[in-house]
Amino acid sequence: MRHPSGSFSFDLVIFGATGDLSLRKLIPALYQRDAAGQLESDARIFAVARASHSDDEFRAIARGALQEHVPAAELNAEQVERFAARIHYLSLDASHAGDYQRLAAALDGGPERIVVFYLAMAPRFFGAVCQNLAAAGLNRPEARVVLEKPIGQDLASAQAINRAVGHAFPEERIFRIDHYLGKETVQNLMALRFANALFEPIWHRGVVDHVQVTVAEKIGVEGRAGYYDQAGALRDMIQNHLLQLLCLVAMEPPNAFSADAVRDEKLKVLQALRPLTERSVATHTVRGQYRAGAVDGVAVPGYAEEVEDHATTTETFVVVKADVETWRWAGVPFYLRTGKRLPQRRSEIVVQFRPVPHLIFPGVASEMVPNRLVIRLQPDEGISLHMMTKVPGPGGMRLRQAPLNLSFADTFRGRQADAYERLLMDVVRGNPMLFMRNDEVESAWRWVEPILAGWQAQGDAPKPYTAGSWGPSAAIGLIERDGRTWHEDMR
Ligand SMILES: NC(=O)c1ccc[n+]([C@@H]2O[C@H](COP(=O)([O-])OP(=O)(O)OC[C@H]3O[C@@H](n4cnc5c(N)ncnc54)[C@H](OP(=O)(O)O)[C@@H]3O)[C@@H](O)[C@H]2O)c1
Repeated sequence: MRHPSGSFSFDLVIFGATGDLSLRKLIPALYQRDAAGQLESDARIFAVARASHSDDEFRAIARGALQEHVPAAELNAEQVERFAARIHYLSLDASHAGDYQRLAAALDGGPERIVVFYLAMAPRFFGAVCQNLAAAGLNRPEARVVLEKPIGQDLASAQAINRAVGHAFPEERIFRIDHYLGKETVQNLMALRFANALFEPIWHRGVVDHVQVTVAEKIGVEGRAGYYDQAGALRDMIQNHLLQLLCLVAMEPPNAFSADAVRDEKLKVLQALRPLTERSVATHTVRGQYRAGAVDGVAVPGYAEEVEDHATTTETFVVVKADVETWRWAGVPFYLRTGKRLPQRRSEIVVQFRPVPHLIFPGVASEMVPNRLVIRLQPDEGISLHMMTKVPGPGGMRLRQAPLNLSFADTFRGRQADAYERLLMDVVRGNPMLFMRNDEVESAWRWVEPILAGWQAQGDAPKPYTAGSWGPSAAIGLIERDGRTWHEDMR
């Protein structure tokens, strides 16, 4: 329930509360929302895992997580204590139906109270946990469930999860999280496109040459080898984050800023993606795996050594050239690129416009660079428009490309909320707009599966690249064959 002051009464249950995601992201995000005054005095957090802890022991773990993951300037001893007092720990095995009676007894707030079940655990548990919640009578009208990615590892397993979860909760109360959609810049992309008259008239094949979506990480598998080696970059990043970003760039204007209107338009984009065939997988994709190298001058081992399997063929780098078969985008490729152990941590969308049709300035042809709009998600969220400008001073008409910057940090002073803060409060509010609907997830898998099948049919190992480089040379070859280049960071 929302109070007139703007704060909320609710119970939030974190399944997997002692795990990495909970301690690194969820607990800090909830602390920040509490510090911002959005948690009513009776809001409670129930931390659930199998390990045995008292309330006090888990509160100490939570305090440690805050110290590690919240900047010291944003930690206030009084607020930390008020937040810690909201937390209760319950040791239970999520796959044992009998254990849920204790959870039901703890959630004593009555049918009108908002209850959020956050499943920060492996997807193989999702169906069983939701069925156990329903059997214990916990799928009440104000209960919502949050599912972390990945939703399955292929279409069939995603459908099985959606079916099982759907038996316990109606679709409007299932929140499939993709934290990229909670990032300020990603929401700003919608503002840019639909709150300004400027861009929409040029947002099509007549003016846009191509689009690049890059999510580059410096890190390796970081203790998640077991999960990652089963998944790989295509399942871990392209199927969800990069395709969601592509949808926001490519979608038609929704008729209203409502959850289903926005998600209907994203779904149409996913359905319009040209399916890859065994043959086009060879020409439209590159997959790579890092070998030992150095990132930021620090030597790092290769992927196979990190996961301790020298025969592993899991990809840690992918490029896919995607085509959206619509009137607006026919002939405009969307290049999706993601990888681990790359030289920079950088996530961005680049909309590359066409060159000017006729050049009137003499002697500047080699300096001419077509306009590009760069939407930076991390680090330093912001948007920049790269334009040709005159170099100041005498000496004739010399031209150079220069960025017009809109840095959110400069324009909107104050701290930037983490995506999880926004998304958690959207769940409490019951607003699923920034969450993936079941049909979106399944459509994304439908497009990704032939790529997996194509790779398997080819039987080639991923192409090696040195840690600290921008992936295998074939990734550069793929875009250069089309007469284009990857955007370089110009900040
Ligand atoms: N970590 C990330 O950055 C990240 C990012 C995006 C998505 N995800 C997804 O989020 C989920 C959680 O990831 P994670 O990295 O936090 O995993 P993790 O560190 O391995 O934590 C798993 C948690 O689940 C608990 N758990 C395991 N089996 C249980 C059971 N039968 N009953 C109750 N609790 C159980 C564990 O505690 P006990 O062993 O004590 O039970 C632990 O708290 C995964 O699906 C992952 O793919 C993670």
